[in-house]
Amino acid sequence: MAFSFEKAERKGTACIKWDFQEMDYKGRSGLLPFSIADADYRTWQPILDALKARIDNGVIGYTDLNEEYFSKVRRWCHLRHDWDIESSWIVPIGGIVPGICTAIEVLTSPDAGIIVMPPVYDPFYSVVEAAGRHEVRCDLIHDENGYRIDFDAVEEAAKAGAEMLVFCSPHNPVCRVWTEEELTRLADICAKYGIYVVSDEIHWDLTLYGNKHITMGKFEKLYDKLIVCISCSKTFNVAGLETSNLIIPGEDTRSKYQSHLYSRYEFVPNTLGLEAVKAAYDGGEVWVDEELAFLTGNAEFTKNYLKEYLPKVKMADPQGTYLLWLDMTAYGKTSDELIDLIAEEGAGMNSGAHYGEGYDGFVRMNVACPREQLKAGLDCVRRALEKL
Ligand SMILES: Cc1ncc(COP(=O)(O)O)c(C=O)c1O
Repeated sequence: MAFSFEKAERKGTACIKWDFQEMDYKGRSGLLPFSIADADYRTWQPILDALKARIDNGVIGYTDLNEEYFSKVRRWCHLRHDWDIESSWIVPIGGIVPGICTAIEVLTSPDAGIIVMPPVYDPFYSVVEAAGRHEVRCDLIHDENGYRIDFDAVEEAAKAGAEMLVFCSPHNPVCRVWTEEELTRLADICAKYGIYVVSDEIHWDLTLYGNKHITMGKFEKLYDKLIVCISCSKTFNVAGLETSNLIIPGEDTRSKYQSHLYSRYEFVPNTLGLEAVKAAYDGGEVWVDEELAFLTGNAEFTKNYLKEYLPKVKMADPQGTYLLWLDMTAYGKTSDELIDLIAEEGAGMNSGAHYGEGYDGFVRMNVACPREQLKAGLDCVRRALEKL
């Protein structure tokens, strides 16, 4: 491997995961963190070089998108996702979550039903609530074969008048990379009932074991009402730059979205964030290919560790993202109790109960870290569970 994914020293940098643990872990600090979704290894050096070069210019003033920026985003969509987009479809935003929030507010009526598929990234629930809309929960079907979309529930919800689907692909936290067949069926339902699809594909580059992500952008029948949320924030570990992109092919949808941003003067991108995006999408595939091999190695290490020492813990098939989904229900404890016990042994994880009702007893573990850190974290889980 040309890249080592060695540990970056993050402690003491006001890093959320390392430096702000007290609130999540009953006043504890100094835990090895496996929580919020960023990585503990350094990003690709050319991105850091591009940021330094920009800083060396001496001014970080207001900046706008130019053809160079558009062409790099288009390059990445084509190269990594076989999706040819137009420059005009690219709408930069700060965070994906604020982007989803705005989409709900701008595109749906005040009391609209918004379809979500629990268990899912918890801000999906809060943004729907904050916008005054109501969630229509179409829980994923979960059995011994893993997690699947409940197409009948989605169709029912769309038929009953839900106006938008907020979709997670690849899916956080259950690690699914949806198949072409599944996506086609979902797209057919959404197109049939004419609902908006906001496809959060923030993890789109992060597929493990050679799984292939297919973007919702491949379904032209959705274009009038589609927003695909993409980012290099997770892929290249630059989330703190708060620069992502929405790809909005439909003119009417895009115009509604952009008018809202303009009306609030929210259209000036982060100068350094733009530099990172350009650098990442201009050759970053060499780094990402190795990152995927490294993350697959971490998933495999975890799988083997659990098999050997903690066979009662069931891990969802890790097809994508670096957030593993661990079913610890066999121990008869709530997620909060499990998190507490694991924290007592020195590691910080996320409570599965936050991602949906019925998932108490589950834990989410971020494995985007050096292997020795991962091993130390798993040892904490082992010590905690062996006491039960
Ligand atoms: C599915 C998903 N969407 C959005 C985000 C956060 O995106 P942002 O920080 O750009 O708002 C995360 C972060 O973990 C995520 O997992």
